[in-house]
Amino acid sequence: MKVIGICGSPRRGGNTEYATQYTLDKIAAKGIETELIRLVDVNVRYCTACYDCVREKKCTINDDLEMIFQKVEAADGLILSSPAYHASVTPLMKCLMDRMGFSGRWRDNPMVATEKAYTFKGTPFSGKIGAPITVARRAGTTSAMTDLLLWFTVNDFITVGSGYWPMLLAGKGGARDAEKDTEGMSHLDHLAENMAGLILKLHAAN
Ligand SMILES: Cc1cc2nc3c(=O)[nH]c(=O)nc-3n(C[C@H](O)[C@H](O)[C@H](O)COP(=O)(O)O)c2cc1C
Repeated sequence: MKVIGICGSPRRGGNTEYATQYTLDKIAAKGIETELIRLVDVNVRYCTACYDCVREKKCTINDDLEMIFQKVEAADGLILSSPAYHASVTPLMKCLMDRMGFSGRWRDNPMVATEKAYTFKGTPFSGKIGAPITVARRAGTTSAMTDLLLWFTVNDFITVGSGYWPMLLAGKGGARDAEKDTEGMSHLDHLAENMAGLILKLHAAN
């Protein structure tokens, strides 16, 4: 059993990394292996819309995407986390979402136009558990979270709730103090409980 957390902040040791690691630690305390991937430490370029993935069944851009893809494919759960940047996810996170989502779609599905458009056989992520976390100084957490939730659902993940949206608010001027948002932190606790609980139940049932 494993959960991967992918942090989309370009700031090492920032609020988003803190929130992600905190949640992963809570999940690890339930006996589930965890791993944090900071997108700032790897190289995932933007999608060039070459459509090679439709034919080749994988993204042909030679960078770290495939390594991350394989880690997610082998895991049971995925947390995607991002600070709000102009009320959306960061460019680092958007590059990952576009590349991993689009190339994943065509691994098991041909791109064909039929009368019955629904020829979808699932994705490499089907049945995995997904959850978003967002952080902001003031506003834009819900719209950034919507970006992440839409990505999870279109890519066939099962999303878990958290009692309230799992988001933290930090102080002014790039303050690294989101842990002071105690109400937000309690929602991360609840998210971790739900994610770990569901993964443990699914494993017990299989
Ligand atoms: C380019 C940029 C855009 C930002 N846009 C928003 C925003 O839309 N709403 C907001 O409340 N804070 C915004 N912020 C502040 C960050 O969301 C906030 O500082 C957050 O804690 C950063 O996360 P980090 O510590 O993980 O880097 C922005 C910061 C930057 C650098």
